[in-house]
Amino acid sequence: MSIPKSHYFEARPAVASRPRTVRLRLAGLDLELQSDRGVFGSKGVDLGTMVLLREAPAPPPGDELLDLGCGYGPIAIVLARHAPKARVWAIDVNERALELTRANAAVAEASNVSVCLPGEVPAEVRFDAIYSNPPVRVGKGPLHRLLLEWLPRLKPGAPAYLVVQRNLGADSLAAWLGEQGFAVTRLKSKKGFRVLEAKAAP
Ligand SMILES: C[S@@+](CC[C@H](N)C(=O)[O-])C[C@H]1O[C@@H](n2cnc3c(N)ncnc32)[C@H](O)[C@@H]1O
Repeated sequence: MSIPKSHYFEARPAVASRPRTVRLRLAGLDLELQSDRGVFGSKGVDLGTMVLLREAPAPPPGDELLDLGCGYGPIAIVLARHAPKARVWAIDVNERALELTRANAAVAEASNVSVCLPGEVPAEVRFDAIYSNPPVRVGKGPLHRLLLEWLPRLKPGAPAYLVVQRNLGADSLAAWLGEQGFAVTRLKSKKGFRVLEAKAAP
């Protein structure tokens, strides 16, 4: 009998919960975050996430930021601490991840994080920046659809910062984003990851 494989992008992960604490250290910040099985990066903050947090520019002035695919919240919480006046939308399809992000944001005193399912972000919200370690494992078609759903909700000229592993298709994703009309810049290549900037037409 084969055991169904559990993915971190399921709405309700099938694997039993086993919470653990992971550490996120960044210039000026030292956070303890709760993670769990069935959630991306459960054993420690992902290397790609750390590359994004270290190498992407700080949030621009503005009032609406998005962490697309928040997991247990490392990106959203760092953004919220750096931009306390902005609202940081933290969205995910994984309900266990959303619960963890809510709890982690509360402990990190990041009260400006709004945690919700993707469909709960009001349709009129437009973003001053998107930061994401996107769910490449969902497959190329679903990933493209996800990006085409959210990147057009950037304000004119606003950036999306995406971290993607080089050997998981960072360069072909950059080329595809260019074909969709975004101005794409490869900001950094580090530890096997690319940090891409994709800007909506001004
Ligand atoms: C690579 S993980 C990054 C998680 C977290 N941001 C981090 O850095 O640890 C991508 C996340 O995207 C989420 N995801 C998958 N499909 C999604 C969708 N359609 N909408 C929003 N989030 C999605 C997954 O559940 C997962 O938590």
